[in-house]
Amino acid sequence: MPAKPVLLQGGRVVDPASGIDGTIDVLIERGTISTLGHGLSGEGATVIDCRGLVIAPAFVDLHTHLREPGREDAETIASGSRAAAAGGFSAVCAMANTEPVADSAAVVEQVFNTARAVGLVDVYPVGAITVGLQGERLAEFGEMHDSKAGVNFFSDDGRCVQDSGLMRRALEYAKAFGAIVANHAEDAGLAEGGAMNEGEVSGLLGLPGVPDEAEELVIARDLALARLTGSRLHVPHVSTAGSVELIRAAKTIGIDVTAEATPHHLCMTDTLVASFDPVYKVAPPLRTRADIDALRAGLIDGTIDCVATDHAPHAREDKEREFDKAPPGMLGLETAFPVLYTELVAAGLMSLGDLITRMSAAPARIRDLDGHGGPIAAGAPATLVIFDTEARWTVDPARLQSLSENTPFAGRELQSRIVHTMLAGKFTVRDGEVVDGQR
Ligand code: DOR
Repeated sequence: MPAKPVLLQGGRVVDPASGIDGTIDVLIERGTISTLGHGLSGEGATVIDCRGLVIAPAFVDLHTHLREPGREDAETIASGSRAAAAGGFSAVCAMANTEPVADSAAVVEQVFNTARAVGLVDVYPVGAITVGLQGERLAEFGEMHDSKAGVNFFSDDGRCVQDSGLMRRALEYAKAFGAIVANHAEDAGLAEGGAMNEGEVSGLLGLPGVPDEAEELVIARDLALARLTGSRLHVPHVSTAGSVELIRAAKTIGIDVTAEATPHHLCMTDTLVASFDPVYKVAPPLRTRADIDALRAGLIDGTIDCVATDHAPHAREDKEREFDKAPPGMLGLETAFPVLYTELVAAGLMSLGDLITRMSAAPARIRDLDGHGGPIAAGAPATLVIFDTEARWTVDPARLQSLSENTPFAGRELQSRIVHTMLAGKFTVRDGEVVDGQR
């Protein structure tokens, strides 16, 4: 029996791609938006009162670590899917640094199938660029691309491809499939031993630093290689003002590059490291106020195409070590939108429509994800996020869906809360609660 129609009544629909920003009812039948209009009748439908709420295309994350297979103590595909749905996401790209590494059809299909069985978000496995993330031999892009997972996004994230010849071949190889390569930009020699941003604060704390140039040298090289090969390059977790400048300049001369920034790099500085709390350790490291300002300007003018979370769960016994020994990484899925709403939209720096674009339509376009990132239009899948911009809540790590608790936003009061998330017409989150058993 087909599911009962759902009427989203009285909400403010914000979908910049369709030019919609206004109070419109949304009727959903068989997973699809069937009608948008005023005063729609709810007869025969489940009516959801959306007065006071915003309805937008659900979010897409190009950068998520789900840890399965291998580190199911830190996160599983199921728990990470719950976290994603709770954060308003309908699709996430699962990074390849699992154990075993996602460098073969077998592993990417395993991730894809497990995620489908969970059914809370569409998980798109990212394929490793090199076998075992070792930076020596290219992985079988073709095999992963032709697998059921249809991989068209490759990254050794967490590790940088240092060898320029290998990076050139990766870009050429990916081009054959219309795929994108995302290189974790960190020059090994400059970053070696570094635990935080190199600068005034690292000097005061006596911690070894990673200079901006460790990132910028690799981005500059990769941009040159993208120009040489005519391939698509995506720059993950941009963290420095200099990197924003490089990407802006590359775009003006027509290099095929896109870029992402994380909520933590957009909102937190290296001064937090003075607590020596390893929750603030991340790669690339938290930088300075000037970097935040440049990243924000880049996000607003589109140099930075999208937000990505770099959700990086770590088990407590791994993360809670001395700062220089702790692994880098922070949770992100459940706080991304509320953090950026609070810091950018409520603060009057960015429009709500622009933030929605950077979290939905823009990342969906980069990864060519049909059915995600809108539009909100008759005939389109009802893949939506519905949130309350007036709600306030305080982040409590113990109450997050993630199996791990390493959020740098613990104890922070945030404005805006995800109320419902829908994936192709099904509630994955309803009234703030994750709805299991979708498929
Ligand atoms: O901080 C990070 N943690 N940055 C990365 O690029 C990888 C990630 C991880 O896998 O923990």
